[in-house]
Amino acid sequence: KKIRFDYSKAIDFIGEHELENMKPMMEIAHELLHGKKGAGSEYTGWVELPKMISTEELKDIKATAEEIKKKCDAFIVVGIGGSYLGSKSAIEMLNHHFYNFLPKEKRKAPQIYFAGHHISSTYLTHLMEIIKEKDICINVISKSGTTTEPALAFRVLKNLLEKKYGKEEARRRIIATTDKKKGALKTLADEEGYKTFEIPDDIGGRFSVLTPVGLLPISVAGIEISEIIRGAKDSMMDSNEADLQNNYCYQYAVIRNILFNKGKNIEMLVNYEPSLQFFGEWWKQLFGESEGKDLKGIFPATVNFSTDLHSMGQYIQQGMRSIFETVLRVEKPIKDIVIDEEEQDLDGLNYLAGKTMDFVNQKAFEGTILAHLDGGVPNLIIDIPELSPYYYGYLVYYFEKACGISAYLLGVNPFDQPGVEDYKRNMFALLGKQGYEEEREALLNRLK
Ligand code: PA5
Repeated sequence: KKIRFDYSKAIDFIGEHELENMKPMMEIAHELLHGKKGAGSEYTGWVELPKMISTEELKDIKATAEEIKKKCDAFIVVGIGGSYLGSKSAIEMLNHHFYNFLPKEKRKAPQIYFAGHHISSTYLTHLMEIIKEKDICINVISKSGTTTEPALAFRVLKNLLEKKYGKEEARRRIIATTDKKKGALKTLADEEGYKTFEIPDDIGGRFSVLTPVGLLPISVAGIEISEIIRGAKDSMMDSNEADLQNNYCYQYAVIRNILFNKGKNIEMLVNYEPSLQFFGEWWKQLFGESEGKDLKGIFPATVNFSTDLHSMGQYIQQGMRSIFETVLRVEKPIKDIVIDEEEQDLDGLNYLAGKTMDFVNQKAFEGTILAHLDGGVPNLIIDIPELSPYYYGYLVYYFEKACGISAYLLGVNPFDQPGVEDYKRNMFALLGKQGYEEEREALLNRLK
């Protein structure tokens, strides 16, 4: 079964002729991306990646994952942005909700923890309290090798490992995923002799989940990465032609631009499964960093339903009409529960007896779509047969490709993130880093 894109619940807002009108632009965007002629084309290595990954590469990743599984009870992934959101989203989507709490025999893999995705000392202290008695391995991931958040967390965690095991053994428990030549992490890894995985030069952080950045942690979590790649490859084939009729990926890219041009400048990615929450976080980085520049771009937001129908639902139904929704609809849940009949119907739920909980979830989905449509919110639906490694890979590539095309339609460089540097410059200046002396004076004056 294939993933399907359904825009029937948005057609009242756009009209088929508008898609037709966008065709020439879509063809140009396709040509820019595939012909490596667009802005930032030096970072389009991900376009062909699913078919470039060799069996050898996958074997090496899986072999390292197997070693880690044998060696440790707690695996710490240290990274931020594109260096953690991919693996976190896959593990959350595909593994048991309470994975870390499962007995080891059931997990058959170490507990997975994340660090270095913020600067909270409390979080890191609490994490160390939890892991210090366990056998630990660390995967430190940074493409640039210079990002402050993961570097700081890694310094602290490396120290813990060295105290616990001694320098020699600590080295054998650390894997670095970074650039092949540059960056402080590369220097450190070479000096210490860590096992390393390389991030290709032509793939930026938010497009890197199908490289060792994502694949190693995902494999350590016991998820079949070959299936992820198979899904990504099919997704690549399905979106390979500049054909708006059959290419669901391009339909999505084009329609979100049509809606944006009508003032629908907020897109909410909706899910009805809490395991998709982090997929939403990954998606937000992908689209937010790729399109939010030159004073334009759709604002990507996420909501988790039906949870957020009890909070954001009010705004979506009746607030400012600048929103459209893209709903991830999962056809078949991983687990289902049949609702029992009760003799005394005190909670009034007997009308649901014999039905499943997922049936109720599907009705919530249908009811919400129609209500939001009546409230003036176009709804795009992405139908996913089930949550599996194959469909994870399929979705990742689907959104990456849609993002590249969509950003070229918008007229921005999808592959840079110059705006991310501004806070860093200020932070370094305020911290007194060498080379930022002038900025420091100016900033201290403004903070007075
Ligand atoms: O998309 C990006 O490039 C960024 O958000 C990075 O993923 C993030 O800043 C982490 O960078 P690095 O992997 O260099 O530590």
